[in-house]
Amino acid sequence: MKGKIDIEKIENKLSKYKPSDIENYDKSSFTHYLHNHKNGVSKFYKKNAISYVKEELNKEYPTENITNKIAEEALQYLIIGLNTDIPFPAPKKPEFKFVDLFAGIGGFRLALQNLGGKCVFTSEWDKYSKQTYKANFGELPFGDITKPETKSYIPDNFDVLCAGFPCQAFSIAGRRGGFEDTRGTLFFDVAEIIKKKQPKAIFLENVKGLRNHDKGKTLSTILNVLREDLNYYVPEPKIINAKEFGVPQNRERIFIVGFRKDQGIDSFEYPESSNENVILEEVLEENEVSVKYYLSTKYLQTLREHRARHESKGNGFGYEIIPHEGTANAVVCGGMGRERNLVIDDRLSNFKPVTNITGEVNREGIRKMTPREWARLQGFPDDFKIVVSDAQAYKQFGNSVAVPAIQATALKIIEKIKYNA
Ligand SMILES: C[S@@+](CC[C@H](N)C(=O)[O-])C[C@H]1O[C@@H](n2cnc3c(N)ncnc32)[C@H](O)[C@@H]1O
Repeated sequence: MKGKIDIEKIENKLSKYKPSDIENYDKSSFTHYLHNHKNGVSKFYKKNAISYVKEELNKEYPTENITNKIAEEALQYLIIGLNTDIPFPAPKKPEFKFVDLFAGIGGFRLALQNLGGKCVFTSEWDKYSKQTYKANFGELPFGDITKPETKSYIPDNFDVLCAGFPCQAFSIAGRRGGFEDTRGTLFFDVAEIIKKKQPKAIFLENVKGLRNHDKGKTLSTILNVLREDLNYYVPEPKIINAKEFGVPQNRERIFIVGFRKDQGIDSFEYPESSNENVILEEVLEENEVSVKYYLSTKYLQTLREHRARHESKGNGFGYEIIPHEGTANAVVCGGMGRERNLVIDDRLSNFKPVTNITGEVNREGIRKMTPREWARLQGFPDDFKIVVSDAQAYKQFGNSVAVPAIQATALKIIEKIKYNA
């Protein structure tokens, strides 16, 4: 039978990913297995990985008797021929292990891999974010982290837990919110995983608004749970601006870090600004930008009218043209915010007015930033693959983290746990 299996064909088939709403634990396990075969983590994924290969072999060779043994052998062949042609493979000699929860497109992963970390588990439920993640890191994230089955795939003994979880209010019964008050929220799931797996360090990220969310109760409950119920040393959270770390984007996010108490860590310094003065110009496309990004004259007129109407009421609704030598506002996903935040004026560069067939000007030179420019604003390198539609790409980069700010903070965390190890 072995001779009959065309491993290349199988490999080609298995490496494909079609966005789907259906969770496939076996397929996620399979990709996690392949990328963890050199460390002790692979045993967590082996059973499901074999089951996945077996199922696929059965589909391809329906008349053959595919046993577990054959599937396991095929799996070993697949490891040998593992397609390492992904832009961001794990470091060759990893120095620590981490998990990437609410992974999005892997902003945390990129930063922690750059510091020598090996990601051993990923969860993200959005099918298009999974597609981007798979194209860049080779692994297909597991899905809904609130499901016990998803959590059952998280291996033991990793060092750092990363999570940029969505912010939700808790309904607190007592004076100070505790673990049980957070039940039913995504923070509860994060806390439950920390409690069970006891990582050395945790790194949580959220919108700046978390600080004042529900009159400050949400943040104080989070800190209370981490400090009192989970017994972690958690210094005061800090609001960090991406623009302090070498990208021209004014993006403030709250960072919460923590250390398991038995390590004796009782101080932590967040990173200092890198003091690089980067301007928008440095992230703009070098080549001519497709005309589709330029706003039509008609649309621009509508925006201008909106602004004229609404700014007079003082709510600033409208759009803002960001100068090339300036700093962009935070990239955010969806709606009018997108245009308002990130419209730039190319009239002074090499833009030639675009006309329609009757010769009227219909594009003046004011355009949206491209997905690649958004990627750069978030500190993603140019070899980061964008494999989804523009609409999805804006959403994904808008949801993501500014990698350099995450990396600078993660470095401080790693230095602490290494120093104290
Ligand atoms: C703020 S984004 C985090 C983005 C990420 N830090 C990055 O670098 O791209 C939150 C992510 O959590 C995902 N998410 C929300 N609820 C989830 C759940 N129950 N299970 C898994 N992922 C979830 C969303 O799809 C979204 O991509």
